[in-house]
Amino acid sequence: MRIDDPAMIRPAELIEQKRNGGAHDPAELTELILAYARDEVPDYQMAAWCMAVYFRGLTGAETQALTDAMIRSGETLDLGAALGRKVVDKHSTGGVGDKTSIALGPIIAACGVPLGKMSGRGLGHTGGTLDKLESIPGFRVELTTEEMVAQLRDVGMAIVGQTADLVPADKKLYALRDVTATVDIIPLIASSIMSKKLAAGADAIVLDVKVGDGAFMKTLDDARELAGQMREIGTRAGREVTCLLTDMDQPLGRAVGNALEVDEARDTIRGDGPADFTELVLEAASRLLAYSDLGVDVDEGRRRAEQAVADGSALERYERWVRAQGGDPDPALLERAAVRRPVPAPRDGVVTRLAALDVGNAALELGAGRRTKADPVDHAVGVLCFAKRGDTVLAGDDLAEVHARDDASAARAVEAVLAAYEIGDDAPPEHGIVLDVVA
Ligand code: URA
Repeated sequence: MRIDDPAMIRPAELIEQKRNGGAHDPAELTELILAYARDEVPDYQMAAWCMAVYFRGLTGAETQALTDAMIRSGETLDLGAALGRKVVDKHSTGGVGDKTSIALGPIIAACGVPLGKMSGRGLGHTGGTLDKLESIPGFRVELTTEEMVAQLRDVGMAIVGQTADLVPADKKLYALRDVTATVDIIPLIASSIMSKKLAAGADAIVLDVKVGDGAFMKTLDDARELAGQMREIGTRAGREVTCLLTDMDQPLGRAVGNALEVDEARDTIRGDGPADFTELVLEAASRLLAYSDLGVDVDEGRRRAEQAVADGSALERYERWVRAQGGDPDPALLERAAVRRPVPAPRDGVVTRLAALDVGNAALELGAGRRTKADPVDHAVGVLCFAKRGDTVLAGDDLAEVHARDDASAARAVEAVLAAYEIGDDAPPEHGIVLDVVA
């Protein structure tokens, strides 16, 4: 068949074929996606197709065709050619309190490796990385590609909004999946993430695949499957891909909320961050440095990342980066919530559980995230979780602190955060933040 010929698409037949457990001809699937991107297939048919995929899955060849079609739906970037360097990139499948890129970028930039990231806003418990950065006064996320490349040359670091021209089919399909209960489908997630990474021109990619209650992937087995599919897409496209499978049963670090997370990322860059978040940032940094053109291995990458934190060069790079994008890096200028309320421990014991999703929902209710694309985000509100799984507490200790815009929302959030904690007599089994590495 001739691709790109709108007369050839028969969405109803493809929906029926998938519903009945069949496999699509890759060329037909490509055409379906390109036609959808051109507004020639209505949302209701794509929604039905996504739901059929939920129940029937996609073969490797179909996932590949879907990814290629997503990339072909828009423009692509070649940051490597623009910079004359090997380009490394990082992506997370998303979780509660995930501010990794904000801390990671300045560390690897201080080690001499540029990180240029395009981010989305998305819906979620807190805003996306762009919203978090916009809690810094003056920070500008809308840079042109030329401005981004110039900043990467000068400062080694840029995080900008994804241009509408890059992978438009994913933008449309992801928004549709979001409101049709079809986000958590492994091949669709793999293709969505990898199409964006490949279109942005990364040569090597570190993927943070979150696992647990606050993540799309609830089990290690599902996370391994997603990691495997993303690696396969990347490897076929000639890219190097490592997946870190990381714990999202509890929030990452302590801070959940936009300005609170920026503050915590900055603390981590200067060596004063929470242990779990620091470990994840250093692990991802060492893998990115090992993939870079510095010619170092993971151990030497780790040593250099730790050094950049210890000698202040990472913090200095953070400040230069924020200023380059128009922001003021002084943490005292971050928006702060008017009302702060402690969440006291109801009894002595050990924290056996801190449900990520419940804390995320509490932050969302406070106004830190958005339910629909049009919702505004309150940068100041959120939750600080002082006690994490395995910590011993005494009755009355502050488990957490709620940052709210008024008393009523604070009271509701205190209750919700308290319900997210389980305190028992015996310490839960210990494990680190990185549960597995698929490389
Ligand atoms: N993140 C993405 O970019 N796409 C998905 O489908 C899920 C998470």
